[in-house]
Amino acid sequence: MKLNAKTLRQMKAVTPIAMLTAYTAPVARALERAGIPVILVGDTVGMVEMGFDSTRHTTVEHMQYHVSAVRRGAPETHVIGDLPFNSYNDPQLALRSARALLDAGADSVKLEGPQLEVIAHLVASGIDVVGHTGLTPQTSKDFRQVGRSAADAQRVLAEAVGIAAAGAFMVVLEHIPASLAEQVTRTIGVPTIGIGAGGACDGQVLVINDAVGLGDYWPPFSRQYAYVGQTIVDVAQSYMKEVHDGTFVNNILRMNAAGKK
Ligand code: KIV
Repeated sequence: MKLNAKTLRQMKAVTPIAMLTAYTAPVARALERAGIPVILVGDTVGMVEMGFDSTRHTTVEHMQYHVSAVRRGAPETHVIGDLPFNSYNDPQLALRSARALLDAGADSVKLEGPQLEVIAHLVASGIDVVGHTGLTPQTSKDFRQVGRSAADAQRVLAEAVGIAAAGAFMVVLEHIPASLAEQVTRTIGVPTIGIGAGGACDGQVLVINDAVGLGDYWPPFSRQYAYVGQTIVDVAQSYMKEVHDGTFVNNILRMNAAGKK
């Protein structure tokens, strides 16, 4: 059964929430088959799938394309669509952008930073919103951990409290000290989803390309369960060898005869 904002919110401190990103239909289909309860179509698509050096290049149109692909692949899974950079600078623009992602198939939207007026306006318009604080890549200068000094930790905590109070039903905490994430998780009444934020959050999110090892660089706080990038190199080299030595077509015929595709 597809989860919604209310049922996800009720999972706080009861069931750990395992969230993964997805950007394409086949990957979304696999995540749904695996039982992943919530998929984030992150603006990371601009970096990990489109080759940009920053998420700031991701547009609403890119997000619509990828949200709709993920929705077709995972019709029964809660899908969060990430609002990209410059698409929620004021409440009216945010509403138009959020509706574009909902029309593409998202169940809720996520946005970065303490945009409290925007969050409150979206929620008042009937849209379920996920907040995001700590490292916020759309506006940060680098990818360094934030919230290390007492003052910055206080700022992150206050932002999370404000985001939850504005009506967000879940808050992503990115790349902050584990002790700060634990404090935020204890303080706010909605689930926290950590990425590089220690083990005390109510759930975790991992970029799918990092999880499957598809890429050249993975953040130190990510985890690789496979190395699909190397598998693609191996497959391409095997295929090229068979084309060159003339065995490619015969090998297909032989495998089909043996009942393998
Ligand atoms: O865009 C994204 O994939 C994200 C996650 C890193 C949380 O925001």
